[in-house]
Amino acid sequence: MKLTVIGCGYLGATHAACMAELGHDVLGVDVDADKVARLQNGEVPFFEPGLSDVLRRNLAAGRLRFTTDHREAADFASVHFLGVGTPQQRRGYGVDLSHVEAAVDALTPLVRGDHLIIGKSTVPVGTAAALAQRIAVLAAPDTHVELVWSPEFLREGFAVEDTLEPDRLVLGADPDRDDTRAARVLAEIYRDMLQSGVPFVRTDWATAELVKVSANAFLATKISFINAVSEICENVGADVSTLADAIGYDNRIGRRFLNAGLGFGGGCLPKDIRGFLARADEVGAGRALRFLREVDAINTRRRGALVDLVADAVGGDVLGTNIAILGAAFKPESDDVRDSPALNVAGQLALRGATVTVFDPKATGNSRRLYPTLGYADSAVEACEAADAVVVATEWAEFVHMVPEELSDVVRARVIVDGRRCLDAGAWQSAGWRLHALGGPM
Ligand code: UGA
Repeated sequence: MKLTVIGCGYLGATHAACMAELGHDVLGVDVDADKVARLQNGEVPFFEPGLSDVLRRNLAAGRLRFTTDHREAADFASVHFLGVGTPQQRRGYGVDLSHVEAAVDALTPLVRGDHLIIGKSTVPVGTAAALAQRIAVLAAPDTHVELVWSPEFLREGFAVEDTLEPDRLVLGADPDRDDTRAARVLAEIYRDMLQSGVPFVRTDWATAELVKVSANAFLATKISFINAVSEICENVGADVSTLADAIGYDNRIGRRFLNAGLGFGGGCLPKDIRGFLARADEVGAGRALRFLREVDAINTRRRGALVDLVADAVGGDVLGTNIAILGAAFKPESDDVRDSPALNVAGQLALRGATVTVFDPKATGNSRRLYPTLGYADSAVEACEAADAVVVATEWAEFVHMVPEELSDVVRARVIVDGRRCLDAGAWQSAGWRLHALGGPM
């Protein structure tokens, strides 16, 4: 099939490459000429394991191309995925839909005949209905443009795997129209996945939009739940990691997303719970989601708690100390520093007068652009030189598997603060280090 993917960020670039991998002819469209040129050259503008192989293979096979020209997209295919960003508004908790609207506005007047737009971005409930009205106004008279919403559930770091082997596919259509044609198109696009048994949920626009934000709200709640419990554990000397193992054995609870520590960040979970809250208020159901304010507050508190723990670890005050921060990305296997808990902690420590040196295997460049005043190192060992405390803020494998002895003579004091509860406490302690873990003993 011929497809376009509008928006070539984390979501769109991955989707375009993976749709080509499924055998479709794909045209990726983005307004950023530099991004388009890099993708067309086989260069992924961000770090995502496995994506550059898929990109290059499909560029070489002639199944994948990129452009900035919406007219080319209108002429190339009659099925268009929409994967542009939906960030938090600059003021307030609402979602900024300007990129989605701009993409629809750019494409719709150019298409002729029957077209299908498949929205993939995370949007507040009611967005598809509003966009459909916009499309009706913008579409040429001899043209029919159908809009459906099929949210994406990929995780950064596992984007290729999640796109090619999703847990489920969701199709949300106009509740007042027959969705048979759209369902047939999706069934053709995802034929192999559906044959292998991936669940296909057909529903209306509003439900599909809510499925996505509810899933992210649930994940955020799960993380904040265990972090709230960890606050109790800290006060009574209990071990939250063992507790998570024990409750996680119950299949109804499950162990995943119960890792206590510095909490969630990134471009999705924080802004999605806030956007969900904002929209709930707008539809008169604000009370229903009030608990998400607490989920957000618990999460934010973890950042302050880690800063306090570092201060305790160096004797009460970080002023004048050297602190090594290992990790800057919001999670491992990503170079994304949007709302990164690690960088927030680094920034707070610097504000309190510490000399902070950050190292991240992939996100140092992005961090530098966002926080140019922090210190940066080219390796973990370099970051730890003369450190009064070493803080693990993102659980990259290279930090989890660090050999304590290799740092012992580099640092000024053998003090390590585990913000992600990911280290082998025994190994560090037996090498003569004092280990402090966020969330209580390990
Ligand atoms: C999240 C969802 O997991 C995806 O399903 C969704 O598609 C995506 O948002 C999106 O809306 O686009 P992502 O932001 O890539 O994916 O990252 P996650 O793996 O969900 O991690 C989010 C944050 O939670 C990270 O900062 C991570 O360190 C933290 N986390 C995760 C914990 O603190 N504890 C855990 O147990 C798990």
